[in-house]
Amino acid sequence: MNPLIFAGNWKMHLGPVEAAAFLDRFLDSYVPRDDREVWFYTPAVSLSTVAARIAERVGLRVGAQHVHWEAKGAFTGETSVSMAAEAGATSTLIGHSERRHVFGETDEATGAKVRAALAGGLLPMLCVGETLAQRDAGQTLDVVRRQLAVLEGLAPAQLAQVPIAYEPVWAIGTGKNATPADAAAVHTVVRETMAGMGAPRVSVRVLYGGSVKPANVGALVAESEIDGVLVGGASIDADSWLAITGSDRD
Ligand code: PGA
Repeated sequence: MNPLIFAGNWKMHLGPVEAAAFLDRFLDSYVPRDDREVWFYTPAVSLSTVAARIAERVGLRVGAQHVHWEAKGAFTGETSVSMAAEAGATSTLIGHSERRHVFGETDEATGAKVRAALAGGLLPMLCVGETLAQRDAGQTLDVVRRQLAVLEGLAPAQLAQVPIAYEPVWAIGTGKNATPADAAAVHTVVRETMAGMGAPRVSVRVLYGGSVKPANVGALVAESEIDGVLVGGASIDADSWLAITGSDRD
């Protein structure tokens, strides 16, 4: 069985000074376990601080929250894959709903970013998920399949390097989370879609995200379809993150 992945998406929180204080507190108490990995998606400016702090630890990984698909050039404000890697990132989120809905990132852009990340040696975690209107209209599976379709044409070994985070948009930062059974039903479809594109089944990892908290994480990861969680708000407080990353399957 693959280790569970507990991934924190810090969003626009914890710059280098706060990140260092957070990690000092977290690493002081975190007890590594063979059955899990802990990943941190930090602001670009905090990558090197976090990378240096976790360098000697096992089972921890740091990643960027987004990257540009071009290698370099006149793209003010953007971070390239190689820059993120140079700062210590080994992964990057791609297609987070805030990138899609606040910054207008398209499926075409997410596809280009996945390919750029793979070419540059970063694990791209592709985020997918439906809005409330799409869910109410019964379009959840169509939306998720369309967002996954950007991976078509990748080789099986590349697909094996792309964890998927299913994050229903209506559950992000709202306190409403999908039930473990609802999430698992979508995860099954994600797994089938990935396998249909040629991904080796054992390599497919599907995380759930959206209002994951210490109180609900155990029930979520107890579902065999849920390979981990992507956590926003509850990942930026060290005590809450210790509770989440130390939790057992209910
Ligand atoms: P949340 O965010 O845990 O605050 O709902 C999850 C995410 O956006 O990745």
